[in-house]
Amino acid sequence: PLPLKDSNGFNELAVSPLLEKNTAGDVDYTLTAQKGNQLLLEGQTTETYGYNGDFLGPVLKLRQGETVRIKTVNALDEDTTFHWHGLDVPGDVDGGPHNPLKPGEERIIEFNVTQEAATLWFHPHPHGKTSEQVYKGLAGLLYIEDEHSDSLNLPSDYGINDFPVLLQDRAFTKTGELNYEAAYNSDGTLGDRLLVNGTLDPKLSVPQGKVRLRLVNGSNARNYTVALSSGDSFQQIATDGGLLNEPVAMDTLKLTPAERAEIIIDFDGLQDVENLSLVDDQGTILLPFAVNDGQTSSEIPAKLNSFEVTGEERNLPVTKRLELFGMMDMVTINGKKFDMNRIDMTQKVGETEVWELTNKPDPMGGMIHPFHIHGTQFKVISVNGKEPDDNLKGWKDTVALEPGDRVKIAISFKNKGVYMYHCHILEHEDNGMMGQIEVN
Ligand code: C2O
Ligand code: CU
Repeated sequence: PLPLKDSNGFNELAVSPLLEKNTAGDVDYTLTAQKGNQLLLEGQTTETYGYNGDFLGPVLKLRQGETVRIKTVNALDEDTTFHWHGLDVPGDVDGGPHNPLKPGEERIIEFNVTQEAATLWFHPHPHGKTSEQVYKGLAGLLYIEDEHSDSLNLPSDYGINDFPVLLQDRAFTKTGELNYEAAYNSDGTLGDRLLVNGTLDPKLSVPQGKVRLRLVNGSNARNYTVALSSGDSFQQIATDGGLLNEPVAMDTLKLTPAERAEIIIDFDGLQDVENLSLVDDQGTILLPFAVNDGQTSSEIPAKLNSFEVTGEERNLPVTKRLELFGMMDMVTINGKKFDMNRIDMTQKVGETEVWELTNKPDPMGGMIHPFHIHGTQFKVISVNGKEPDDNLKGWKDTVALEPGDRVKIAISFKNKGVYMYHCHILEHEDNGMMGQIEVN
């Protein structure tokens, strides 16, 4: 249904439903990729894709220590896969481009949730078609909870003081459709309209007190540098794969495609600030806030986690070098394009290695490549030989490389299998800026 616009033309931010656990049957959850129709623009319906609904997907909440069985169903007219971005899982359930589900097929997958509390997400990964399927609406959030994070008294009432904030830009045709081909750009398809959780012109009512926003850059290519319009700082408490050791005060926070950050904004005393919004550095309003009469009480403890890059990890020699290069459809990793039949490197399960990632500048200047590795979380050891920024001192599965950057990471895999690594500008991925590692 069309969200109710207020007198200023804003729509209340949609908060995706939590995916309900099956109480009977042999699977815990069912996720169906399907076609839909959504009223996004006034008076026009848009053909979309969604999980268990018309557009985008529900939030899948899992707990560390549990074993889950998920029935994945493809109700589309084309192949798709279910990829769990950021999740530590064996290669055969990771949902890379191998072994897609054909139209009408379903598959039950099972895995153990072994990692700590984090905000992850899921999206399709079919060969050469990831960008178009995500663009049409296939994306959902995946939360992991654990006992430690429960004990911290962080804002965690879903939809009350703890909100998903999925940022995506889209271009609509005159007839209100999402025409991927018409909008296509080989350096990343952009749109002139911002959708937050699938809501155009969103506004979020928040209580007085501390509110947690789980920011997910779900755009094909756009980077966001978020800030508060008031200029006040906010606290970042988590990276892609877990809580930071302590909250980091931020004035601005850059998120490249697929990166996540959990932030806490304290709305106490901000009731009368006019036009208080989350904005980006282009001056664009991402999400206006309306502080309501509700009260919420929670804390931001000074100590959140115990993440550490050990001396041993710091002293490991570099054993893998990956050079990202190019723009448009001329993108490569170590001079090669993706080949589904070629394993580019191998690593032993449970063994930590240091990879050196570089973004070789292009004669045209080059661009930021957000580099993502499947099936695990890694640690950033250094950026251009220096200590990483405080908000990179936490688990990451995607790291942004500016042209010329050299980033060292320590990485190990808990599970075996074949995993993708790639640029998360989805058009770069589909154009072959991807490789695969076999963990054995
Ligand atoms: Cu977010 Cu290979 O994916
Ligand atoms: Cu790229």
